[in-house]
Amino acid sequence: MANLESTYLGLQLKSPLVVSSCPLSYHLDNLRRMEAAGAGAVVLYSLFEEQIELAEMGFSSYYTEHNEELPEALRHVASMKEYNQGAGSYLAHIYQAKQAVSIPIIGSLNGYYNSGWTRYARLIEAAGADALELNIYYLPTKPHITAAEVEQMYIDLVRDVTESVRIPVAVKLSPYFSALANISRRLVGAGASGLVLFNRFYQPDFDIVNRAIIPSLDLSVSSELRLRLRWVALLSDQNDVDLAITGGVHTAEDTIKGIMAGANVVMMASALIQNGIGHLSTIENELNQWLDNNGYKSTKEIRGLLSHAQIGDSAALERANYLNVLRTARSQEGS
Ligand SMILES: Cc1cc2nc3c(=O)[nH]c(=O)nc-3n(C[C@H](O)[C@H](O)[C@H](O)COP(=O)(O)O)c2cc1C
Repeated sequence: MANLESTYLGLQLKSPLVVSSCPLSYHLDNLRRMEAAGAGAVVLYSLFEEQIELAEMGFSSYYTEHNEELPEALRHVASMKEYNQGAGSYLAHIYQAKQAVSIPIIGSLNGYYNSGWTRYARLIEAAGADALELNIYYLPTKPHITAAEVEQMYIDLVRDVTESVRIPVAVKLSPYFSALANISRRLVGAGASGLVLFNRFYQPDFDIVNRAIIPSLDLSVSSELRLRLRWVALLSDQNDVDLAITGGVHTAEDTIKGIMAGANVVMMASALIQNGIGHLSTIENELNQWLDNNGYKSTKEIRGLLSHAQIGDSAALERANYLNVLRTARSQEGS
């Protein structure tokens, strides 16, 4: 059996398979099952900025009963019982999670505006989290807000948080930056120890019969991995930072691709929601088998084998490849 040990955010993990932030981590029993199935670490479901706002106002329990008095944008939060119940119980959950399992527990803050993030980052640290993931979820829809302003907001937020805690901080990024390599470098400069590529955005659908916008959250498919592979392969030699892939990891093959691109760990949510937590051990077995069959003794040996630095062929990852794809498509049309 190969050695699957990995390092991520300075943490020593027994495996590169990490559970991505999602409701599966809400139950302590699930955390135990994740550990038993071979998870190297778990990123907990997020504490949302809106919940912090309510907690800061001291109103969270009051508004559970008087929901209609809340501003519309905050109404859904008080009823998110099945997901999580507020800032206090989130901190309690971290503490209990640390008692329940011995694998690293990574807290998660989700939002875009620094309304108490630094204080909650410190509380998450005090509750025992081994690291913190920041999911900065901001959709810049206002025409007067420039890309430079948005980027500066990210940098300031990350700097504020990293300066307030001692635990390592990872930033879960969106793929929609104009200059991803540049913002990545600046986030690392602002103190990020890890980058998590990429956030998968909630994309509402349109109901054309009832003329309504319907909330929709589809689970991912493996083909979504390609965007992540390309960027991890490109970024892995540019910064001294750990990289995690989230989005489209469903199989052992996906895992191998992610590590070969240069990721320290791969994260999974959809695959575990779809197939159950036990899917982790299926992937672990298949990963072991593949490494054995191909003569590798550890995941470290395959890490970065297909990164930009190793293949030395920018064209394969960048635009020039587009021409090859078009050429191939044309020749197939002609045959
Ligand atoms: C039901 C569900 C809930 C999620 N909740 C969170 C969350 O609270 N915080 C977060 O950062 N990401 C959240 N995510 C995103 C996942 O962590 C992950 O980044 C994304 O689903 C892509 O990974 P996947 O292809 O393995 O699903 C959620 C995803 C799903 C499917």
